[in-house]
Amino acid sequence: MDTFINNLPKAELHVHIEGTLEPELLLKLATRNNIKLPYKTINEIKNAYDFNCLQDFLDIYYQGAKVLITENDFFDLTYSYFEKSALQNVKHLEIMFDPQTHTNRGVTFETVISGISRACDMAEEKLGVTSILIMSYLRHLSENEAFKTLQSSLPFKELITSVGLDSSEKDNPPSKFQNVFKASVKEGYIPVAHAGEEGNSDYIWEALNLLEIKRIDHGNNCLQDINLVNEIIKRDIALTICPLSNISLKVVENLEDHPLKEMLQLGLNITINSDDPAYFGGHINKNYQKIQQALNLSKLDIYGMAQNSFKYSFLNDDKKEQYLNDLEVYYNKNIDL
Ligand code: ADE
Ligand code: ZN
Repeated sequence: MDTFINNLPKAELHVHIEGTLEPELLLKLATRNNIKLPYKTINEIKNAYDFNCLQDFLDIYYQGAKVLITENDFFDLTYSYFEKSALQNVKHLEIMFDPQTHTNRGVTFETVISGISRACDMAEEKLGVTSILIMSYLRHLSENEAFKTLQSSLPFKELITSVGLDSSEKDNPPSKFQNVFKASVKEGYIPVAHAGEEGNSDYIWEALNLLEIKRIDHGNNCLQDINLVNEIIKRDIALTICPLSNISLKVVENLEDHPLKEMLQLGLNITINSDDPAYFGGHINKNYQKIQQALNLSKLDIYGMAQNSFKYSFLNDDKKEQYLNDLEVYYNKNIDL
């Protein structure tokens, strides 16, 4: 089964580029940019990655991001994630980035997007992995701050497909960002949002009805309300589920209790993703493998979620069809292994 998962063609729809900063690169960039960190060794870093909730993680994640200064840093970070993804048979990546994490430290929007998008171009050319970018607003900041970010993004609009909402969910409901999402959609960005990770089902309703999101990041707490589950299915919207993230951030106590199987049984459209793989102990294939083992998922379940990863991507229909055909060929060849 692990080999079936490793070789399975797949897309990843929920990964924060800042969350792919592995300890080795963190130390290297800290030295390169002369940034002081509270740790000196890989072991010290790994010991610090022990979280009780989303906020515990975010504090460490924002601290780590401070080593990213130059266009080259953003390129190195992004390209190294493409290399890892290619080895895991990821064919397409939808990458979130948090401009405010960097612009608030004096790094320009242009520096961030130039480094990331240069890596995306090179990855398509050299590794054959396609990608799109999701610019995410930090929800612990004000809507006015998000408007400034939207404004800064406009000269680079052609490089950005989608707009998202992340960071501390509690007490920062989607309704706080209703106006900036409306303006972002007017600029052509497709709206998505983290909702129902720590927040309750009301936040998912708000994200659907006020932000008109086209995909739900996490969405675990939709199970609190069967009417919401049915609405998500009716709208044909997918959830980007992140199993190892849910364990690290104590959204779910252990993988055997993860609601993913129940979600599949209810008819929700589920995809599997890594969220912040450098912090949560595993890349995409490990997320597939661990949840498969914990819930005894079948090859058909795994195939269905890989299909969803392409179907609910923001690729055009031709490209989706091409990827789905390749996946079908793979499945038919490996079904009896
Ligand atoms: N930013 C990076 N990872 C996140 C997560 N899991 N939830 C909210 N914001 C995030
Ligand atoms: Zn996330």
